[in-house]
Amino acid sequence: MTSYNEIYQQSITDPETFWGEAAEGLHWIKKWDRVLDMQAKPVPRWFPGAEINTCYNAVDRHVETGRGNQTAIIYDSPITKQQRKISYAELQQQVASFAGVLVKLGARKGDRVIIYMPMIPEAAVAMLACARIGAIHSVVFGGFAANELATRIDDAKPNIIVSTSCGIEPGRVVEYKPLLDEAMRLAKHKVTACVLKARPQATASMQQGRDYDWDSEAAAATPADCVPVAATDPLYILYTSGTTGQPKGVIRDNGGHAVAMHWSMKNIYNVEPGDVYWAASDVGWVVGHSYIVYAPLLKGCTTIMYEGKPVGTPDPGAFWRVISEHKVKILFTAPTAFRAIKKEDPNGEYLKKYDLSCMQSLFLAGERCDPDTLFWAREKLNKPVVDHWWQTETGWGIAANPLGIEELPIKPGSPTVAMPGYDVQILSEEGAQMPAGEMGNIVIKLPLPPSCLPSLWGNDQRFIDAYLSKYEGYYLTGDAGFKDADNYLWIMSRTDDVINVAGHRLSTGAMEEVLSGHPDVAECAVIGVADALKGQMPLGLVVLKSGVDRPEEDIIKELIKRVRDQIGPVAAFKQARIVKRLPKTRSGKILRGTMVSIADNTEWKMPATIDDPAILDEVKAALQALGYANS
Ligand code: COA
Ligand code: AMP
Repeated sequence: MTSYNEIYQQSITDPETFWGEAAEGLHWIKKWDRVLDMQAKPVPRWFPGAEINTCYNAVDRHVETGRGNQTAIIYDSPITKQQRKISYAELQQQVASFAGVLVKLGARKGDRVIIYMPMIPEAAVAMLACARIGAIHSVVFGGFAANELATRIDDAKPNIIVSTSCGIEPGRVVEYKPLLDEAMRLAKHKVTACVLKARPQATASMQQGRDYDWDSEAAAATPADCVPVAATDPLYILYTSGTTGQPKGVIRDNGGHAVAMHWSMKNIYNVEPGDVYWAASDVGWVVGHSYIVYAPLLKGCTTIMYEGKPVGTPDPGAFWRVISEHKVKILFTAPTAFRAIKKEDPNGEYLKKYDLSCMQSLFLAGERCDPDTLFWAREKLNKPVVDHWWQTETGWGIAANPLGIEELPIKPGSPTVAMPGYDVQILSEEGAQMPAGEMGNIVIKLPLPPSCLPSLWGNDQRFIDAYLSKYEGYYLTGDAGFKDADNYLWIMSRTDDVINVAGHRLSTGAMEEVLSGHPDVAECAVIGVADALKGQMPLGLVVLKSGVDRPEEDIIKELIKRVRDQIGPVAAFKQARIVKRLPKTRSGKILRGTMVSIADNTEWKMPATIDDPAILDEVKAALQALGYANS
């Protein structure tokens, strides 16, 4: 058997042979001129000259090779008490019909379609329908507010939006249509059509001539066929948080993405066609794109769309029920889900009620898996628990334990080793290689492997500035950490304003922009403080304009509402405090990192450049009033 080391070395020294062979597992309409174009700008490109259709590979191909009756999607919704199974043949029919609807409404190859949907199978159908006709989808997570949706409409400039009447959160129905209408009103770019899947929990008001009912349109549609697209054509745009309020539109291409997705299923997760694979995430996040929709279907697996939570729908045994009922082989989720389960069922009593013998292993990502959570999950499940590290920008694991190649020893707190194609290095600020065990900026030497972003939508310059300009020839991950003597990676923190709340990537800069917009606010800082359940939680420290003498509680309530209204409930912005001043360096830079250390009670040094150390005492008192900085 070939070892991880041999495979990894080949992928770095001879990437064209490595990925050329991996690509053979897919159907190509036209083969590539060459596997890798190193001269392409801003970054090298995979499979130039090739033509492919991602939907054909994920759906039609399996019907044609005899998997038509196999279940492609299991919809399991404890929140609506519903279940539905869709076979590959049914999926093909539904996707072709909905692709026909999109074509009728004017979508053509290269056009953008925004999908704003909860965890219902129609979300996957809409994504695949776009892929079928070469339209570029951009899925927006349902927990974002109208304003965020409007920002994405203005950036992606879609002609069609696909949505539904509502999403359902525990205890409340989230009506989507008012949010959509508000977003379309706010956006400068005008959308020509909006297709809505009606759900019984809410009725959407329809605007004649712009809004269309999914069911009646799909029933009347002429099914559309798969069209050839260039391997380098975009399959989707997925917006993710950056340093500012303007999210980054990560582009994913068709060819490289399909190859990496397909390769990862066997080699990282160790699954075969026909296996049941469950990523308990949301289609609005990258994990949902890659491992709820594309990778499991490209591999011919059965994927699960779960509309529920790890706890409360109805209890902390929810995940175990789904695993045993549907014979799930691999569960992939965020550590925060396990912390939520552990909190409610520390002794694993609910686990004992279910037969989990079908389950092979658990994969975690989205945030660093703290060793306590890893130990608990491993002890209770008695299966390998694999932390793996990746980003929206890459679409798949940069570091993982490749169970399909060989199971490497697990070091709790480390996502193990670099995956094939990722030449991960640790650099000092000046660009020198850091010795083993020493922290630095984590970078990936170009070329990035297939599936990684070729650019940001409509903004090559931002792509270059944000990722490529700090160290020439390297992609800057935005994470800091180190490599140990065994080449294991340790991902310790972000180097920018991104925080991770319940596995969701959020920008503190974006929250600061919203707070600064409040008429009473002079300046503010939002920091991510440690949280036992969600990993991090945002916390705002706000300085008021002089002369403002309204009650502080009123202003704080307004600030919290403002972030919820403008970014969305997913921002989880619930704590803020008014302070007289913010600690700064003499050059005026706010000392956010120092405030985080004080809040989290971690060791910190008085910054040599601090303007006025006394301000830190005031900040500490404010943090203590919110329950932080206790020691
Ligand atoms: N539509 C509308 N609102 C949404 C939403 C959606 N799709 N998703 C979340 N929200 C809301 C929640 O209802 C909550 O609102 P509230 O402030 O009124 O309670 C808020 O956004 C924050 O959501 P979240 O941070 O997810 O907290 P939670 O308390 O609802 O759930 C967990 C906490 C840990 C159970 C949940 O985050 C979870 O299961 N996470 C792990 C899986 C995952 O999604 N990982 C993503 C990457 S792999
Ligand atoms: P996202 O783009 O939402 O997937 O978030 C990517 C970021 O989440 C990474 O840059 C890391 O900061 C963090 N992250 C994701 N997975 C891990 C992990 N396994 N360990 C540490 N950090 C992680």
